[in-house]
Amino acid sequence: MNNIPFEKIVHKYGTPLYVYHGENIEQQYAKLKKAFSEVDTEIHYAMKANENIEILNIIKNLGGGIDAVSANEVDRALSIGFKPEDIVFTPSCASVDEILYVLNKKVNVHIGAIEYFPLLGNELNGKKIGLRINPGVKIGGNQKIATSHNDSKFGIPVVFINKVKDLQKEYGFVINSLHIHTGSNISNVNDLIKSIDNIFKYASMFDRMEYLDIGSGLKIKYKDDDREIDLNAYAGHIKKKLNAHNQNLKIKIEPGKFLVGNAGYLVTTVNMVKQGYNKIFAGLNSGFNHLIRPMYYEAYHEIINISNPHGEMKKYDVVGQLCEEDTFAYDRMLNDVRIGDIVVIKSAGAYTASMAMEYNLRNKPKEILYFRDKITEI
Ligand code: LLP
Repeated sequence: MNNIPFEKIVHKYGTPLYVYHGENIEQQYAKLKKAFSEVDTEIHYAMKANENIEILNIIKNLGGGIDAVSANEVDRALSIGFKPEDIVFTPSCASVDEILYVLNKKVNVHIGAIEYFPLLGNELNGKKIGLRINPGVKIGGNQKIATSHNDSKFGIPVVFINKVKDLQKEYGFVINSLHIHTGSNISNVNDLIKSIDNIFKYASMFDRMEYLDIGSGLKIKYKDDDREIDLNAYAGHIKKKLNAHNQNLKIKIEPGKFLVGNAGYLVTTVNMVKQGYNKIFAGLNSGFNHLIRPMYYEAYHEIINISNPHGEMKKYDVVGQLCEEDTFAYDRMLNDVRIGDIVVIKSAGAYTASMAMEYNLRNKPKEILYFRDKITEI
């Protein structure tokens, strides 16, 4: 739990709250930097994971860049001092106007459909463009967050890459990069490798290439016995591929979860403990409006009753207060839960606040940063 003074924070701000541990983000960044130290690599934080300005500032101070997916994300990154060249923009099915807006900000744009080129037409003349490709590979893991298989909406199917050469002739743009994002939370490093090897294969088709963007998918620990992705094996493979490659290329990587996932906690209060026909329900002052991952992806999050660490272990369905099924965990063993206890849900730094909503007119939680022993509402 990173020695975070949860009681003190709750006393000051109440609940529900998102609490982030600043040093944890720095440590994850340092791990990634170290693993890729022998590869010319830029880290572009996928801000969709958590777009809070203070989180972005931590990344900026570490020397990182940004992976953005909307013009608003690009504008937020620019507004706090990221430079256009620090940002990559890889939207999905964005409007032509949105793409033009970002192109005109001189941000690196990765186009995910060849159908955009005629629509962008002469606006492309002389511009450098990246291609997000879809290698059509089947990988393991949760299919809702897999993005490089051949039924996925993301990226240009590799069978169409040849057509880009003709479009280049017609509209006068330069292909300077290829991008692949295989999916999120990929546990098997070989799945990632199988996917990203494709960008090396297709890069040689273009003679003015500057970088390869390998997206992300870096798995983090949600459970005690989960394993983080083997970064050294991954970085080692990329180094080998680059050495064997005939172009001088930089690598860009776009981690979201890896940098912020385990830095965040959703801190809640128990509103109600009730006996059902077969189950005991621990009802928190939260729900999928604050943390959608269990309901949307059947994701596992550790849950801890910090108010009763020595209480007898009992089995609960941990639920929220929405008028919908909003279960955080089924049949979960927790220390005896009582009304008013503070219950903390772990791994809530990524895709939690950024995916929150005000369903049932329930407010979104405040966000608190605990960093260098200081507690700040951000
Ligand atoms: N790059 C691109 C183009 C992406 O679409 C994503 C995530 C990332 C990078 C960062 O991936 P990460 O390092 O976070 O795995 N809401 C889901 C995850 C969806 C990811 C969407 N794209 C979840 O909570 O598991």
